[in-house]
Amino acid sequence: MAEYISVSKISNYVEKEVTIKGWVYNRTDKGKLVFLLIRDGSGFVQCVAFKGDLEPEVFDRLVRLPQESSVIITGVVREDKRAPGIPGGFEVGVKQIEIVQEAGLDYPMSLKDHGPDFALDNRHLWIRMQSQWAILRIRATVMAATREWLDNNGFAEMSTPILTPAAAEGTTTLFETEYFDEGKAYLAQTGQLYNEANIFAFGKVYCFGPTFRAEKSKTRRHLTEFWMLEPEIAFCDLDGLMEVEEQMLTHIIQRVLRDRMPELKSLGRDISKLEKIVGPFPRISYDDAAKMIVELREKETDPEKKALLAFEWGMDFGAPHETAITNQFETPVFVYGYPSAVKAFYMEPWPDRPEVCKSVDLLAPEGYGEICGGSERMSDPEKLLARIRKEKLPEDAFKWYLELRKYGSVPHSGFGMGTERVTSWICGIEHIREAIAFPRTIKRVYP
Ligand code: 4AD
Ligand code: MG
Repeated sequence: MAEYISVSKISNYVEKEVTIKGWVYNRTDKGKLVFLLIRDGSGFVQCVAFKGDLEPEVFDRLVRLPQESSVIITGVVREDKRAPGIPGGFEVGVKQIEIVQEAGLDYPMSLKDHGPDFALDNRHLWIRMQSQWAILRIRATVMAATREWLDNNGFAEMSTPILTPAAAEGTTTLFETEYFDEGKAYLAQTGQLYNEANIFAFGKVYCFGPTFRAEKSKTRRHLTEFWMLEPEIAFCDLDGLMEVEEQMLTHIIQRVLRDRMPELKSLGRDISKLEKIVGPFPRISYDDAAKMIVELREKETDPEKKALLAFEWGMDFGAPHETAITNQFETPVFVYGYPSAVKAFYMEPWPDRPEVCKSVDLLAPEGYGEICGGSERMSDPEKLLARIRKEKLPEDAFKWYLELRKYGSVPHSGFGMGTERVTSWICGIEHIREAIAFPRTIKRVYP
């Protein structure tokens, strides 16, 4: 009996008879030959059926076989440099084909280009398309590599709650729900606060789960539901945090380059740009980044772009500012020491400069901008309480959080990495909504 294989492993089976289970992605008829591009979930491979090798009824069905029909094919693997596929360069000479189901002829996601709304309405089918499949395969590897690095470096994975009693990342992006007799609950904007409790039990932890922001803005880098990875580390300052970020990110990129080269190539990604992503990454202060923006604005000749770069000290960076900064570098760059006023309540103030905090954003090149945001956390209970009051956050909901500062408080730091932001950048895609299987945005909860 032929061995059942995954297309991704096909290079190990040259001249061997194998069985592939999958779907018809494309079909081309050439008289006595039918070329089927078959996808099996792990890759795409060309299968060639010759009329003389098959029963006449079977060959007749093949000639009319619609896109997306499910099939089980047995045949011999040949090396052929010209054969399309992922990985390309191999084809299967069909000896036997079982048609599991002949797909309906009205399949909506034909292989032509579709408008974004049509594609998104058909996301349940769109994910079968080569480009979308490649992006989501890369996303899975990003997540696996992230966990791999953290697990190998002494971090324990914790699951933090999704239903939470208060805001942690600003009150304007909360999803609210009734919670029995307890009043309101909110979908988690972050797991960080709970991880700050977890580090006092486990030292180094991370959570990796869905995160919710009722983002009112429609941008190409915001989702309302995204997957955030959040490490948190006891006895760690801002420099220590940046080291963790650059080591972890370097590992993610290396692993994607090792395991997902065919997918990257199929997306047309410029691999040489990714190969340069090796830490350490440049570290610049907010003050210096602000000066850089002012200088770049002066040099800018396009009036529209110049207007977008309007800036003064104290402002948060918008996408145009981040792009201007990151265009100066080939690797991601750390910007640290933002004004406290534009950052979350929990960030440790800079010594002798309380208007600035020990925050750090990691900005990706090629216009992708912020992929990670983090900080050293405020460890003094009085200062923290003052800030919670200043932000008018519900003190009761933070009672437990303040207690963490009472029993063995230590300097500690952590960051959050947006899975879809990192995936978009690695894939070189235009819009974050393609970096998650079923995107949620201000305008979309279907399918
Ligand atoms: O900078 P943010 O808001 O930081 C936090 O939530 C911290 N509590 C993290 C921490 O220190 N543990 O979010 C972190 C990252 C951003 O850099 C971005 O990559 C991603 O999460 N992110 C989003 N991704 C997609 N859509 C959105 N609406 C996002 N908001 C944040
Ligand atoms: Mg941020």
